[in-house]
Amino acid sequence: MIIAVDGPAASGKGTIAKALGRHYGLPVLDTGLLYRAVGLSVLKQGGDPDLEADALAACDFGDDILTDPALRSEAVGSLASRVSVHQSVRQALVQRQRDFATQPGGAILDGRDIATVIAPDADAKIFVTASVHVRAERRYRDGLAQGGHPDMDSLIADIQARDIRDMSRDHAPLKMAEGADLLDTSDLTIERAIQQAIALVDAQLEGRRQG
Ligand code: CDP
Ligand code: CDP
Repeated sequence: MIIAVDGPAASGKGTIAKALGRHYGLPVLDTGLLYRAVGLSVLKQGGDPDLEADALAACDFGDDILTDPALRSEAVGSLASRVSVHQSVRQALVQRQRDFATQPGGAILDGRDIATVIAPDADAKIFVTASVHVRAERRYRDGLAQGGHPDMDSLIADIQARDIRDMSRDHAPLKMAEGADLLDTSDLTIERAIQQAIALVDAQLEGRRQG
């Protein structure tokens, strides 16, 4: 069983994917971390994220970088979004994601192109979203909780810029897949969002069983 969870930054897809993982007893891959690792690795190599050759060279990152706390910052999120427009970069990360998706027993992946490119035959597909303002507020609260000094205006600008880049790129743009269900978490607590996600997945699985 493969469950695909896609959506824009801070929509809640990671939280929902992890909760689905606990509920269905499946392993979860946050595919954004792979693109973030490439973004951070370009930075460390002194490369230019907008140059395809520099970004591709950074795809060869070691697994150590996946535990770097800097990976979670909005700055690295923006770098990830810049390296992820290059087709060769996306291609370099496909196999790792498909191997995870097709492991025996099943898997859950969250990202931008899981239901459209990585696992178009997924058994259940959820597209998670929320308003830009709510998403920026979430990042703001996360920033405060981590002891930082987040700025609401720049968070809104960063999220909007990332949405536009992710939705308008030529290769694997962020969009709702055919057969996916929309889950808008703007006005939902985490608990309600998780309940609704489970209900949507159960309904899709039931629909498949009935053919
Ligand atoms: O957690 P958040 O939604 O802020 O970002 P993320 O999922 O870690 O993804 C960071 C960036 O990587 C996104 O803005 C996308 O540009 C890119 N990405 C992608 O292109 N395809 C994916 N499957 C996952 C992430
Ligand atoms: O993975 P993505 O970037 O889409 O979002 P996330 O990391 O799951 O969630 C971003 C933040 O929003 C986290 O602090 C979540 O706890 C919070 N959140 C929320 O307040 N309400 C929801 N319905 C879902 C997530």
